[in-house]
Amino acid sequence: MEEQLKELKKEALEEIATVSDFNQLEAARIKYLGRKGKLTAFLRTLGNLPASERPRLGRLANQIKEEIEKALQEASLKTQKIASELKGKKDLIDVTQPGLREPLGHLHLVTQAIFEIERIFSQLGFYRVRYPEVETDWYAFESLNMPPNHPARDEWETFFITPQIVLTPHTSSGQVREMEKGKLPIKMINLSKCYRRQSDVSHLPMFHQFEGLYIDKKVSITQLKGVFDYFAHEFFGPERKIRLRPFHFRFTEPSFEVDIDCSLCKGRGCRFCKAGWVELGGAGMVHPEVLRAGGINPEEYSGFAFGWGVERVYMMRSHLKLPDIRLIYKNDLRFLKQF
Ligand code: PHE
Repeated sequence: MEEQLKELKKEALEEIATVSDFNQLEAARIKYLGRKGKLTAFLRTLGNLPASERPRLGRLANQIKEEIEKALQEASLKTQKIASELKGKKDLIDVTQPGLREPLGHLHLVTQAIFEIERIFSQLGFYRVRYPEVETDWYAFESLNMPPNHPARDEWETFFITPQIVLTPHTSSGQVREMEKGKLPIKMINLSKCYRRQSDVSHLPMFHQFEGLYIDKKVSITQLKGVFDYFAHEFFGPERKIRLRPFHFRFTEPSFEVDIDCSLCKGRGCRFCKAGWVELGGAGMVHPEVLRAGGINPEEYSGFAFGWGVERVYMMRSHLKLPDIRLIYKNDLRFLKQF
């Protein structure tokens, strides 16, 4: 009996010594001192022992019980210490770990294009202006040599607010506004929103144009060509070529459509461009009637103007063949993040 008790004590103390958390500690307590515990079971059998053995073994068993309780108490302190150390480790800040960055957005592709266009023309001395998105019939049409009911107006698919007030259909409406400032020479680039009653895979009801207007004494077509070449080389690349194709606008004379050689086939002709050229936009020498409308004497001054689409030139540069141009304004981050 005595041997058995000593064995039990040894086993219990060894086990308790290896305990490292509260659950193990509790399991050990139950195993030895619980209601069905090993030592408890022994104490219950004391009554069955011969009276001569009882006091000695009883004392021994109680002594062992006290030792186990003491060991459990010490182990409890130890597990508490381990637990708080672990917690401390979890709360530690590792200052060498790379931080979590807030995701940073970037400018919309059209804003990027506007800034770049503005930068390129500013190198040639053009200053940026912006004119209203809501415009009178006078600035949008009449001052540009398009009298009321003139069929040329149909091209501009206009949104009317009243018969005399429209949503600006093109940046040319800034031409006479700029002339009215009364300062010459004029070298403006009007970068603004335009609106037309059109919405399909290749048209937007709201888009941007940039309008160049240069007015001075003796402005010539050669200068116009030089400005376009400069823009094309800066914006599309030094190897690109520009050509002028005769056209008609009421507010320029002569008028041109400006083409750039196709980047896909290098001007040889392909399925995309057909004959090797793609259209950039309109241009021409400012019509004398327009100068007059802006209070400028056409005998003394001349000028050129051009108006091209921001979304269009940007798409041409990045070779973007969008299945639907309206994607640009859908605000889908999966699309926008690519620019
Ligand atoms: N305003 C014309 C358009 O929207 C383009 C243009 C501008 C043409 C200036 C000639 C001169 O189509």
